[in-house]
Amino acid sequence: MADTPPILALRDVSKIFAGTKALDQVSMEVEAGKILCLLGDNGAGKSTLIKVLSGYHPPTLGTVLLDGQPIRFAGPREARQQGIATVHQDVGSIPMMSIGRNFFLGAEPTKGVWPFEHIDIAEANRIAIEQIQRFGITRITNGDQLVGTMSGGERQVLAIGRAMYFGAKVLILDEPTSALGVKEASIVLRLVSQARSEGVAVVFITHNASHAMTVGDRFVVLIQGKVAASFARGEKSREEVLNLMAGGEAITELEEELEASA
Ligand SMILES: Nc1ncnc2c1ncn2[C@@H]1O[C@H](COP(=O)(O)OP(=O)(O)OP(=O)(O)O)[C@@H](O)[C@H]1O
Ligand SMILES: [Mg+2]
Repeated sequence: MADTPPILALRDVSKIFAGTKALDQVSMEVEAGKILCLLGDNGAGKSTLIKVLSGYHPPTLGTVLLDGQPIRFAGPREARQQGIATVHQDVGSIPMMSIGRNFFLGAEPTKGVWPFEHIDIAEANRIAIEQIQRFGITRITNGDQLVGTMSGGERQVLAIGRAMYFGAKVLILDEPTSALGVKEASIVLRLVSQARSEGVAVVFITHNASHAMTVGDRFVVLIQGKVAASFARGEKSREEVLNLMAGGEAITELEEELEASA
């Protein structure tokens, strides 16, 4: 059996902003049907990394590989056309737009024949509602509802469901669970696992080690733009992961302090 290359990979990628090395010789691989968790503290370079993966930033140095071939995306649109869907932390949605319109954003189904064709809003709404209900958001039944009135979790489901409906091969999620309560976070985590079982390569960025360890297959920890650790599920304990994310001894020290003062 021939080895299939990872869908997306970085080889020695550095990104330098006016003297700040946001990424420092990062190498990593994103595989189909796997969830790669990207962990790291504030400013570690996580968002910069996903902006390189999703075509917003060209790397200063190093190579992005798509299906094993070096690629230089002209911009996010080109990356999207290649099946790389990114859900940003603000969910990239327009709050004053309806669910149905937001779901299709320029790719609405049309009715009629040119020059009389028009967007088929009813059909757009029907599909959008069907998709979010499929992922467990059953409280929402009206596609005319404005996105701005949805909860944070519902918006995440809308954005992820949309990416999957349009056949994303790679799904990049920047802190999808960070602003959510326990119940909504678990809906989003379940959706992320479902994307994996449908063969999507998921990149899941988070501060939350428990969320990462619930769904992750592989883990990459960034510290000051460098890959500080890269390991598979089960290779490290939750405590070890927390320590790595804190950049070493911080958590252990805090635990000892709290124990001493208890
Ligand atoms: N466009 C930019 N211009 C200049 N510096 C930038 C730019 N984008 C990011 N940086 C810097 O690069 C470093 C990494 O930032 P990045 O946003 O990637 O971190 P992060 O891991 O996503 O942090 P957070 O968890 O807070 O979102 C920071 O020092 C940041 O100030
Ligand atoms: Mg960030």
